[in-house]
Amino acid sequence: MFILSMEMILDANKLERKLKYPEDFINKIIHGDCLELIKLIPDNSIDAVFTDPPYGLNKEGITGDADLSLFYNILPECYRVLKDNSFFITFFSTKFLPQLFKNNPFNYFWQIVLFCPEGKVKSPIGYTKFMSCFIFKKGSPKVIRRNKDIFVDTPGKMVEPDEGYIDHPTPKPKHFIKEILKMFTQENDLILDPFIGSGSTAIACLQLNRRFIGFEIEEKYCYIAVNRINKILSGFKPNKINEKKTEL
Ligand SMILES: C[S@@+](CC[C@H](N)C(=O)[O-])C[C@H]1O[C@@H](n2cnc3c(N)ncnc32)[C@H](O)[C@@H]1O
Repeated sequence: MFILSMEMILDANKLERKLKYPEDFINKIIHGDCLELIKLIPDNSIDAVFTDPPYGLNKEGITGDADLSLFYNILPECYRVLKDNSFFITFFSTKFLPQLFKNNPFNYFWQIVLFCPEGKVKSPIGYTKFMSCFIFKKGSPKVIRRNKDIFVDTPGKMVEPDEGYIDHPTPKPKHFIKEILKMFTQENDLILDPFIGSGSTAIACLQLNRRFIGFEIEEKYCYIAVNRINKILSGFKPNKINEKKTEL
């Protein structure tokens, strides 16, 4: 086990020197604009992208959520930095699903559904009770571990049962992220999340012995992410009884 400290946040705007790849990037939360930061990552150097971008829902507290322009701008950069034969994995809005396939350099692979029995997101048909995670591919990557494509969880309350309240508008359940990472990545792989928010992808990576690179534009979310990581890695024992089940 290793303990990360607050120094793992690098502030791209305040740093007096240029960020160096890979030493300033791996297992770091970098405060800055992902569209700038990703340009510092060399071509074909990332094993998988796992992300949860702003996708046009105008969610309060999420920068860049007015439209899909951020997503469209980061897509070609993600393609560039990903190794050949790798996966690009992203949560996306059901409302704007057709737009996911426009201007998209990746090939569609599969969809994985997170069923949320307590979900109460308004939709034209009443309440939506699922969210989707889309798997795209660059080249012909192999699935590492076969699993199912529907999981169940209770996101939307900004609470992780083993951590308590997460002070971010849209934290995603790390148990679900871990299930997906186990399917599409291997130990020691390097996973990029350009929109890391409260750090769920980083925690999932560290708990599964994957390396991560996380970008986040809001400083307060960077601190939340690092606090979560420190708490988990410093020996904080999740309550097994309360741990979320992702079985359906
Ligand atoms: C949907 S949230 C991600 C939540 C994350 N999956 C979690 O579990 O906490 C999207 C995040 O992208 C960040 N963001 C928006 N524009 C950004 C940009 N240009 N560069 C980096 N991060 C950005 C937002 O501040 C927000 O925290």
